[in-house]
Amino acid sequence: MENQIKVEKITVKINGNTILENISFNISLPKFTTIIGPNGAGKTTLLKTLVGLIKPTSGNINVLGFNPIKDALKLRRYIGYVPQRERIELGIPVKVKSVILMGILCRKKPPRIVTRRDIALAKEALLKVDLEELWDKQFSELSGGQQQRVLIARALATKPKLLLLDEPLSAVDVKSQWEILETLKKLEKDEEIGIMLVTHDINPIVEYTDEVILLNKRIIAKGSITEVITEENLRKAYGPNVRVVTSGTICYAITGDVHA
Ligand SMILES: Nc1ncnc2c1ncn2[C@@H]1O[C@H](COP(=O)(O)OP(=O)(O)OP(=O)(O)O)[C@@H](O)[C@H]1O
Ligand SMILES: [Mg+2]
Repeated sequence: MENQIKVEKITVKINGNTILENISFNISLPKFTTIIGPNGAGKTTLLKTLVGLIKPTSGNINVLGFNPIKDALKLRRYIGYVPQRERIELGIPVKVKSVILMGILCRKKPPRIVTRRDIALAKEALLKVDLEELWDKQFSELSGGQQQRVLIARALATKPKLLLLDEPLSAVDVKSQWEILETLKKLEKDEEIGIMLVTHDINPIVEYTDEVILLNKRIIAKGSITEVITEENLRKAYGPNVRVVTSGTICYAITGDVHA
């Protein structure tokens, strides 16, 4: 297994519309990488392309030594994917432990029977996000931030080398954002799990990310946060009406983006 993500000139078209255009980058793992950009920039599409859910129209991708389309089953053993949060059906009562075990079971061949080892892995994953006390609780009764951390635990239960998270910070309060980011940074530092996080809001990740990719259909900039978050780059990504606040050497963007 290689500790790299290599993306070479990928273009993704959906129904004739170009969603991503000529995207190239290399990332050596483990590293904390953030993909930022406005609504509709193609952030989710890029993540889905990396995990093999979308086939690029042209270009080459290699994730951990695997082609996400051709080697989909092998790659799935090494990556954890936390999709952009959909509304969880509140009518169906699911316990936290079931949410995590589902992540383990869906990777098994039938018959999908929960073993003692699966339970141990699930508990270990919940411990890693510091929520072990919620094992027997109803998922729907948790706060948004706790739900997000349980979903991270579900992705961790299969012991990935790379964790891809789509907007894990949206719709959670500032304290939960901090807890999620602390958890992710710890996973990167202590367990050498590569983190790739998508956000439309740069501000929370300033202190955590090693590298930033600013995306709006194309890559506008890539590098350290101070290299990428400049007034010029932000205006290119968010348009001329973005308000930029500078604090020290770092710019913060105030945009009109809305998010559920
Ligand atoms: N399955 C699809 N069919 C048609 N168009 C799509 C599809 N998926 C994405 N798109 C379009 O591709 C563009 C990028 O979508 P994507 O979801 O990747 O953006 P995003 O950066 O994740 O946005 P957000 O911040 O709102 O999550 C949008 O214009 C969207 O309408
Ligand atoms: Mg998205």
